[in-house]
Amino acid sequence: MNPSTQTHLNLFRQSHSCDPPTDEAIVEFQKQVLSFYVRHGRHDMLWRHTDNPYRILVSEIMLQQTQVERVAVKYPEFIAAFPDLTSLARAPQCDVIAAWQGMGYNRRAIALKKCAEKVVDEYAGTVPHDPDVLATFPGIGPATASSICAFAFNLPVVFIETNIRRVFIHFFFPDAETVTDKEVLPLVERALDRENPRVWYWALMDLGAELKKSVPNPNRKSTAYTKQAPFEGSDRRIRGMILKMLVGQHRLSEKKILELVKEDPDRVHRILTVLEKEGFIQKGRTGYQLAE
Ligand code: ADE
Repeated sequence: MNPSTQTHLNLFRQSHSCDPPTDEAIVEFQKQVLSFYVRHGRHDMLWRHTDNPYRILVSEIMLQQTQVERVAVKYPEFIAAFPDLTSLARAPQCDVIAAWQGMGYNRRAIALKKCAEKVVDEYAGTVPHDPDVLATFPGIGPATASSICAFAFNLPVVFIETNIRRVFIHFFFPDAETVTDKEVLPLVERALDRENPRVWYWALMDLGAELKKSVPNPNRKSTAYTKQAPFEGSDRRIRGMILKMLVGQHRLSEKKILELVKEDPDRVHRILTVLEKEGFIQKGRTGYQLAE
């Protein structure tokens, strides 16, 4: 980070106190966050130049577990392949899995397609504006439901995700050993810019991403903190390999898959069975292929 950003981030930090921050401290915090955003915000992200709910849905599901730089490449390709809810809802699942390659966590591709089907078939093609309703959709938890409502509909929803949490813990709980989301949420609510929640949450997320690079992760204090499991040696890596091979090959026997994956046959067999059960692949007479 360049030195001016660093100085900027240190300007305001609540000193050690158990008392809730004063209104003045909240106003000062808002100013600092927005000023950071004006100077250092990630204004070029394509999904910030649209309020199309379908496009926001796609980007928010992608951003759940994939880095911004990767999403920046895959998002426009995905939107070009499936430009709207109906095209995604009606597409063969194998085409969606193919378009998802490079993103990881392929379950999200199936969930996203199911979301599109649900909106088209049950909500007359209109993405619901209620986070509680969206949170019942496949692959959409409370944070993603709220971020869709903030970014697509500019609604003043109160929510926490990893970058937002990091900002509040860094600024308001500098000396705490542990912090719960229950403690953070009232501050998110007090600091929320109700006139323009969309920009406010962009700013918080960008500042949180910057803090991740520049200070020891404040989220380690959070009781909600979990680390992503290592990829090397994981079932996730083998699952990803198998799906990638089937995108390229159409159909492969279990024997051929074993040759290519070079892992314990029992383990590979178990993973194939799970992939089939989860609806990713189907087994025919001559081998496995992506489910249509
Ligand atoms: N901009 C809009 N949504 C975002 C997200 N989930 N993460 C980072 N930047 C975003």
